[in-house]
Amino acid sequence: MRHLMSPMDLSVEELYDLLDLASDIEKNPDKYSTACKGKKLASAFYEPSTRTRLSFEAAMLNLGGSVIGFPSQDVSSVSKGESVADTIRILSCYADICAMRHPKEGAPMVAAQYSGIPVINAGDGGHQHPTQTLTDLLTIRSLKGRLDNLTIGLCGDLKFGRTVHSLINALIRYPNVSFVMISPPELKLPGYMIEILEKTGVKYTQTVKLDDAMDGLDILYMTRVQRERFFNEEDYVRMKDFYILNKEKLSLAPEDMLVMHPLPRVNEIAVDVDDDPRAVYFKQAQYGVYVRMALILTLLGIEVTSEVKENA
Ligand code: NCD
Repeated sequence: MRHLMSPMDLSVEELYDLLDLASDIEKNPDKYSTACKGKKLASAFYEPSTRTRLSFEAAMLNLGGSVIGFPSQDVSSVSKGESVADTIRILSCYADICAMRHPKEGAPMVAAQYSGIPVINAGDGGHQHPTQTLTDLLTIRSLKGRLDNLTIGLCGDLKFGRTVHSLINALIRYPNVSFVMISPPELKLPGYMIEILEKTGVKYTQTVKLDDAMDGLDILYMTRVQRERFFNEEDYVRMKDFYILNKEKLSLAPEDMLVMHPLPRVNEIAVDVDDDPRAVYFKQAQYGVYVRMALILTLLGIEVTSEVKENA
């Protein structure tokens, strides 16, 4: 039985196959529409979510399976004090696979130890968010045609942003990928992530100014300041509008640069950017469904070989 805790749990080859499967799902959705008939996804969300939870649920429904679960702590027995270990033991009796989001780093890992079904980390505190990374990789590969030879600007809350941590972990395995870290000094990438970059010899620079960094980027990955991880509201208020990408700023960027964002956005991308062809964050959310369909199939060991059904 396999779980997914971090993007590193998949080898480069496995990742390649998974992204191929996701692309095939995008092209031939009918072929997969009954692949998970009789299977259930448990969505166990201890922290708010729109895209991750609903794209997991949509993914399972698109595969012909069904979904059970809870969207927040207060509507489950967690509010009565039940442990993650006990909850997953119960979900293992009711479902075939579980997507779990939790505010505590490592909680899905604990769940995996007690689980009878595959557990997917759907975001654990400020730590990792592997399925957002799969979404990001599929977006980049589909729209840029490659995962190597890329210069990626990561902008915003690099300290608490788990999507950024997972994305760096995944991308450093491809040749000639370099990063420009754009953040206020207080929200710099944590030391343990810098260590990973140093150890692997990946090229990176750190800067505070977005304008200076834009030139030469293949991708600008914007992130929200993670309000829920701040110790006090004052610091959040000081930081929250540090970066605002608007039309005028975007005019400094290369014509073929992609603007990505895991969403939700707050103020960091002005709505006047949405119509720019470089803004791909809504498309990115759509890719999230295909890649989660591919992940569910992979972890459940389901292979779909039949051809697309002809329309009668
Ligand atoms: C991200 C998350 O939850 O980490 N959202 C998402 O899953 N698409 C990013 C965020 O909340 O800022």
